[in-house]
Amino acid sequence: MTTVLITLGPTREYIDPVRFISNASSGKMGREIIKQALKKGCNVIAVKGPCNIEIKNKKCKIVDVVTTAQMFKAVKANLKYADVFIGVAAVADYTPVTIQKNKIKKTDKILNLKLKKTVDIINYVAKHKTEKQTVIGFALESKNLLNYAKDKLNGKKLDMIVANPTETIGSKFSKPVFIFKNGDIKKLNSATKNNIAKEIINEAIKLYRNC
Ligand code: C5P
Repeated sequence: MTTVLITLGPTREYIDPVRFISNASSGKMGREIIKQALKKGCNVIAVKGPCNIEIKNKKCKIVDVVTTAQMFKAVKANLKYADVFIGVAAVADYTPVTIQKNKIKKTDKILNLKLKKTVDIINYVAKHKTEKQTVIGFALESKNLLNYAKDKLNGKKLDMIVANPTETIGSKFSKPVFIFKNGDIKKLNSATKNNIAKEIINEAIKLYRNC
C-alpha cells in the first residue's frame, strides 16, 4: 500500500513569546490532497502547521507542528515510511536570529528585525530520498511563475512541481501548471482544489509506479 507523507499549512517563526512571522496559507490544498490520497487507498502521514483543517480517518496520522524546525524534525522522523512526499506547506522562509525572551515593548523608534533562512525541508527530502521515493513540490509566485517553478523543480531536484498563481492562497480554486522532471508540462483549466488534488494524486501514483 502506498504511503503519502505530506506537509501542509503555514509555519510560524516566533519573534517574542506572543508575536510571529507567518503567511496566509489555509491548508485547503493539503486537505484536498489528503482526501484524494485516502480515496485511492493510500496511508497518509500529514505534518500540519497551524491552520483550521480537520481530518479524521484511521488511515491518516496527523502530526501537529508550529515552527519550521518542528516540521523538519517530524518530516525527517517519518520519511522512511513514505513512498510519496508532497510538500504543500507554505514554510516560512525566514526566522528571527534570536527570539526575545520577553514581549518586545512598543516605542516610537524603528524596530529592526534580523532574520536568517529557515531549513528547506523539501530540499532535504529530495537529497536524502531513496530511488523509489517520489517528491512533489509547490510553487506560488506573483511573477514569472513558470520560470521560477522550473528553477525550483531543477534546483530542489523534484519529480514534479505544481505551479500556482498567487490568487490560489485561501481560494477554493486554482489554475495550476504541472511541470515534470523530464520536461513535460501539463496546464490545467481553472478548477476547484478538490479536482486539482485528484489530478495531483493520480500523477503522484503514476510517478511512483514508474520509477
Ligand atoms: O519556498 P519555495 O517557493 O521555495 O517553496 C517551494 C516548495 O518547497 C514547496 O513545495 C514548499 O512546501 C517547499 N519548501 C520547504 N521548505 C522550505 C521552503 C519551501 O519544504 N523551507
